[in-house]
Amino acid sequence: MRVAMIGSGYVGLVSGACFADFGHTVICVDKDASKIDALMQGQIPIYEPGLDVLVNGNRFAGRLTFTTDLTSAVADADAVFIAVGTPTRRGDGHADLSYVYAAAEEIAAAITGYTVVVTKSTVPVGTADEVEAIIRRVAPDADFSVASNPEFLREGAAIDDFKRPDRVVVGAEDERAREVMRQLYRPLNLNETPILFTNRRTAELTKYAANAFLAMKITFINEMADICEKTGANVQDVARGIGLDRRIGSKFLHAGPGYGGSCFPKDTLALVRTAQQYQSPTRIIEAVVEVNSERKRHMVDKIERACNGSVKGKTVSVLGLTFKPETDDMRDAPSLDIVPALIERGATVRAHDPQGMKEAKHLLPDSVVYCDTPYEAALNSDAVVIITEWNEYRALDLARLAKSLRGAIMVDLRNIYDMAEVERAGFSYTGIGR
Ligand SMILES: NC(=O)c1ccc[n+]([C@@H]2O[C@H](COP(=O)([O-])OP(=O)(O)OC[C@H]3O[C@@H](n4cnc5c(N)ncnc54)[C@H](O)[C@@H]3O)[C@@H](O)[C@H]2O)c1
Repeated sequence: MRVAMIGSGYVGLVSGACFADFGHTVICVDKDASKIDALMQGQIPIYEPGLDVLVNGNRFAGRLTFTTDLTSAVADADAVFIAVGTPTRRGDGHADLSYVYAAAEEIAAAITGYTVVVTKSTVPVGTADEVEAIIRRVAPDADFSVASNPEFLREGAAIDDFKRPDRVVVGAEDERAREVMRQLYRPLNLNETPILFTNRRTAELTKYAANAFLAMKITFINEMADICEKTGANVQDVARGIGLDRRIGSKFLHAGPGYGGSCFPKDTLALVRTAQQYQSPTRIIEAVVEVNSERKRHMVDKIERACNGSVKGKTVSVLGLTFKPETDDMRDAPSLDIVPALIERGATVRAHDPQGMKEAKHLLPDSVVYCDTPYEAALNSDAVVIITEWNEYRALDLARLAKSLRGAIMVDLRNIYDMAEVERAGFSYTGIGR
């Protein structure tokens, strides 16, 4: 199969490289010429474990190429994936589909021969219908189908998720499209991955339902953590106690500072808006959205309480800026709420992140001092706050950390430390829900 991937960001690049690794011939397109230039030289524009080896291996094998020229890429393709961004539309919270529709127009003008156009971007119900209408309008004689194939990969584990997914969901309205999609994912037969064929609207909604459910699970345990703090219960034990029940499952039951990232915040909000638009409001997800955004502000209050009621005039060292470990993605990271609020309340912030500092510099106030190591960040600080659970923060030398710090206060928003151990090292410790 010849595949054109429109959009070479987190999803397009990972999906393109994995399809190439399956043996297909893939061309990744992006309108950002600097991204394509870098990729053609073997440089990976994002941090994702294993992606450099995968991309360059397939590039050298001749199965994976890059271009800014959408027209030639689409002309030769059996399947064209749309993997462009669908951020929150400013003002109303709906998904902004302008990139998807612009890509559809360009694709329409370039189609030759039977082509399946596949929306891989996360898009609201009915978008594939609109993509089909756009292509039909621009190229009335084109021979094509439109399918929906939402992507469920997680940043940080993206390659494994793509190659060994729990399931693949394909929404298609005709057998020709289903057959092309079957061929594309045939290599997954080896590990018996379920491929769920549905209609397009079902596939589109399934993606939002999955993200909303996971966001709800996180928000649920976060609220349980608040009750634990008031009642003397321990949220980690509660999570284990319910998670062992197979009807519930233990994943996504880690209490923390509230979910962030490039997907959950925008997708929960977009689902709320779609539901309202169809006069079928989803009050549960409305509450999830509201509770989660309040939570990030509450985290700042929590840090202030740990610092004897105020951070004014104090230095706070922040460990972890990305929305989760093993990515450099800063989109909607909790740190983007917490760090500016600390500074507004009078703190000086010294920060460290293994991969996110380059991006953070564009997004956080200029006064943040970026440090090369967690110990340097802790230097002369009054408190250390762990926002992201990078592995390298899990086994810090607590004695060394205590020596760097001016005050021995640790606020662990990811519960990665054992309270007794930290307190033995001389810290006053605040976790979540314990
Ligand atoms: N990041 C994730 O973990 C993840 C997981 C599952 C689904 N998704 C969904 O996948 C989609 C893409 O997300 P992402 O994180 O990869 O976004 P991204 O911003 O990293 O990448 C999008 C890319 O598309 C390019 N682009 C936009 N319009 C283009 C056009 N007309 N022609 C060529 N290139 C164009 C941009 O330059 C950019 O490089 C979104 O809908 C997102 O919700 C993301």
